[in-house]
Amino acid sequence: MALVLQSSSTDSSWWVFTLPAFLGSEVLADHSLLVVSLFIASISAVLLAWALSSGGPAWANGRSHRGATQIPGPRGIPLFGSIFSLAQGLPHRTLARLSKSNRATQLMAFSIGSTPAVVSSEPGVAKEILSHPNFADRPLKRSARELMFARAIGFAPSGTYWRMLRRIASTHLFAPRRIAAHEPGRQFDCSTMLSGIESEMASTGAVKLRNHLQGAALNNIMGSVFGKRYNLSEENADAEVLKQMVREGFALLGAFNWSDHLSWLPKMFDPSRVEKRCADLVPRVRKLVSEIIDEHRKPLEGCERQLGNNGDFVDVLLSLEGEEKLSEDDMVAVLWEMIFRGTDTTALLTEWAMAELILHPTVQSKLRAEIDSVVGSAGTIQDAHVAQMPYLQAVVKETLRVHPPGPLLSWARLSTDDIQLSNGMVVPAGTTAMVNMWAITHDSSIWTNPDKFDPARFNVSEGGVDIDVRGGDLKLAPFGAGRRVCPGKNLGLITVSLWVARLVQRFEWGPVESDPIDLSEVLKLSLEMKKPLAAFATARNCV
Ligand code: HEM
Repeated sequence: MALVLQSSSTDSSWWVFTLPAFLGSEVLADHSLLVVSLFIASISAVLLAWALSSGGPAWANGRSHRGATQIPGPRGIPLFGSIFSLAQGLPHRTLARLSKSNRATQLMAFSIGSTPAVVSSEPGVAKEILSHPNFADRPLKRSARELMFARAIGFAPSGTYWRMLRRIASTHLFAPRRIAAHEPGRQFDCSTMLSGIESEMASTGAVKLRNHLQGAALNNIMGSVFGKRYNLSEENADAEVLKQMVREGFALLGAFNWSDHLSWLPKMFDPSRVEKRCADLVPRVRKLVSEIIDEHRKPLEGCERQLGNNGDFVDVLLSLEGEEKLSEDDMVAVLWEMIFRGTDTTALLTEWAMAELILHPTVQSKLRAEIDSVVGSAGTIQDAHVAQMPYLQAVVKETLRVHPPGPLLSWARLSTDDIQLSNGMVVPAGTTAMVNMWAITHDSSIWTNPDKFDPARFNVSEGGVDIDVRGGDLKLAPFGAGRRVCPGKNLGLITVSLWVARLVQRFEWGPVESDPIDLSEVLKLSLEMKKPLAAFATARNCV
């Protein structure tokens, strides 16, 4: 019996080809009957393939059973697999539930239409996936390709071009000395944000924090990447245009495009008008970024470029020579991606942190006491102080644990070869692989009271454990791990730490009674608070 099952799961559609023999040649002569028979046969083949494949329709022909151990997973529904379950609610929570109910937390196979996918909710297997060289590519959806991201760091295939981009970015944008050189800009953006919060409090009696955080994040990244900042203290048409373009790009990258996953759908089927909207957006992006590049070209034409540590990233890209020299289109793609990645994650993570600090006033007071003890209530908090504030670091880590900005690590990986895992499972080439970081950080066998916001768990002086969140320990790796780990992790961490510290030093934060805090989530490109945080910020007299 085992043998029969084995062979039928190896190719469950073989029997369709025997149909003419069963039906006989006379029947074959009757065309209408033939069409009906073939239709029934195809439907039956699809149903049989679906019924026999663990993981659903994209896992037919024994794809889930290439190793000694089969990859378990839900069948979903014929042709569509688990698309509809994933479309309802929050994908990271749905996948966590499915992984548990299918006893597949190590690795679960599932189908997004005709796309075969696996997800791991367990640190050991997650580490193997993220660090395996044959998992270093990413699946490229249509919108990402049309928005030029195939030539940017995040989606470029892991070859020479991608390695070169990573090297340039690590040396010139994310190196510690560069991050330090841009501190004055970071402080300036933060001070502007604090003044903006004060004005909004004075005029409306409450503050919607997200606008302020997104403005600061945009200026922060514009400053270090383009050497340009917008004046956000008043209405600024240019900044509004850029924000609107970023929003449209987010919407397009996040949009579900049916023909990405249902190979039998005609390419024209595009209910979200992804193609048309990308075609409208790309020339606008190209124009905006090219103008900034041209502004950078002008003053230095004819001179050799001298790059100080606080030169911006456009200067760096323009200074590249020889094999490293990028075409204008590639430069636009790389710079555009930085705006994208740098603006949403830091702002949204800070918003979650502030929501938790308002809901946990004792944590807020304890953090303020630490800040006052290190810099005094009126001192200027600098990047260097963060290392002396273990409780601040614990608050940021706990926020990353409870609300990881990329609960499925943002952008998935793609296997470029059959990959043997140490648990006996084999992930076939061409499989989309995800790590459910949210499931790992909410797993009660790894974390005590995982749903409780408790920074003490990371504070060594309170018996907690100091975990490196930058990819070394998969129990908490919100920046991913391996060769495609987030290159902006240090910049992201220092920015969020500085903002949270300065927000707490400057104001006492409380809830707005008429507009209570709601921790419901929505997963767009990053995990956002569904209802933006409204808060009551009382300026501390001493600051
Ligand atoms: C709190 C802040 C941030 C979080 C939580 C975060 C998270 C992530 C995650 C989970 C990945 C995928 C990693 C993987 O596949 O293993 C990623 C990739 C990436 N991130 Fe970040 N990120 C943050 C901030 C930033 C910033 C500030 C920048 C740049 C300005 C940035 C640029 C990138 C880029 C370019 C990639 C693609 C890397 C590649 O594919 O080689 N990130 N990030």
